[in-house]
Amino acid sequence: MSLEFPLLCLGSLTALWLSLTVVLKLLSAARVWLLGNGGLVRPERLGRWAVVTGATDGIGKAYAEELARRGFSIVLISRSQEKLDDVSNSIVSKCGVETKTIAADFSSTDIYSKIEVGLKGLEIGVLGDKQVGISYSYPEFFLNLPDLDPFIDTLVNVNITSVCQMTRIVLPRMVERKKGAILNMSSASGMYPVPLLSVYSASKAFVDFFSRGLQAEYKNKGVIIQSVLPFFVATKLSKIRRPTLDKPSPQRYVEAQLRTVGLQTQTNGYLPHAVMGWVTTALLPAQILNRYVMGVGLSQRSRYLKKQKLG
Ligand SMILES: NC(=O)c1ccc[n+]([C@@H]2O[C@H](COP(=O)([O-])OP(=O)(O)OC[C@H]3O[C@@H](n4cnc5c(N)ncnc54)[C@H](OP(=O)(O)O)[C@@H]3O)[C@@H](O)[C@H]2O)c1
Repeated sequence: MSLEFPLLCLGSLTALWLSLTVVLKLLSAARVWLLGNGGLVRPERLGRWAVVTGATDGIGKAYAEELARRGFSIVLISRSQEKLDDVSNSIVSKCGVETKTIAADFSSTDIYSKIEVGLKGLEIGVLGDKQVGISYSYPEFFLNLPDLDPFIDTLVNVNITSVCQMTRIVLPRMVERKKGAILNMSSASGMYPVPLLSVYSASKAFVDFFSRGLQAEYKNKGVIIQSVLPFFVATKLSKIRRPTLDKPSPQRYVEAQLRTVGLQTQTNGYLPHAVMGWVTTALLPAQILNRYVMGVGLSQRSRYLKKQKLG
C-alpha cells in the first residue's frame, strides 16, 4: 500500500484540528471581549463587601471606585491613613456606600491580626488583592541593586507574603458561603522572565501560579480566583502620566478587567493587553523575547544612570 493515503488522512486531520482550535479560540475571545460576564461582579451575586489593598492610588483606587459604583461597600487598605480618609470620603460622597479603612504596611509581616480584626464579620464578596505592589526604581543587575538584602525582604513581603496572607484571611468565609471572587494582581512581567527586573518578575510569576493553583483547588466550592496580568497601565508605579490605547488609565483598565471575572482564570484584563500577551507568549520564540526584553532593560538602565549622573 502506498503512503499517500495515510499521509492525506493525517494532513486532513491536522488541518481540521487546527481550524477547530482557531474557531474555538475566536469564539471564546468573542465571549470574553464582546459579551463579558453579564454583570457578575455585583454585591447581590457575590457578597456585600469588597476589600481592596493598595486602594489609595493607581489600579487599586480605580478598583475601589468602580466596585463602589457597582454598589459594594468598600474596605480600603494601604499605608497612609490620610490618603485612606480622602479616598473613603470621596467614595462615600459619590456612591453613598459604606466604607471602612485599615492602615497597614505590607512590608511588615505583623499586620495580619489587625487586618483580620478589621474584616471580622463582614460578608466579603470581592478581594481585590496585590493592588499594592513594589518594583525596582530602575532596571538593574541583581547584585547591583541598592540595599539588596532589605530590598529582597521588602519585595517578598509586599508582593508575595501579602497575597498568601490576605487569601488565608478571606477565603474561609467565601468557601463557607460558596461565593466570592479573589482578583490577584500579577503582571505581564510574570508571564516570562524579565531580566534586570528579575525579583519583581519572579514575584509576579508566584502570584500567577498561586492564583491558578488555588482556582483549581476551590473552583468547585463556588469561589472564583483570578490571576490578572496587565501590561503597562498609566500610574505612579509605571511612571506613565498620559494614558494611550495600549497603556490605559487605571479606570479604563479596571472596567475592562471586571468583565473577564468568571470567564478567564488567567487574564490580561484588557483587549489590547490580551493581544500583546498572545504575541509575546504564543508567537515570539522565548529566546528572541528574552533578548529583546534584556535590550529594553539595558537601555532604560543606562538612560536612568545617565540622568542620575547629570542630576
Ligand atoms: N501600573 C502598571 O503598569 C502595572 C503593570 C502590571 C502590574 N501592575 C501591578 O498592579 C499593582 C498596582 O500597581 P499601581 O501601578 O496601581 O501602583 P501605585 O499607583 O504605585 O499604587 C500602589 C498602591 O499601593 C499602596 N502601597 C504601596 N506600598 C504599600 C505598602 N508597603 N503597604 C500598603 N500599601 C502600599 C499605595 O498607597 P500608600 O502609598 O498610601 O500606601 C497605593 O495605594 C501592583 O501589584 C503592580 O505590580 C501594575
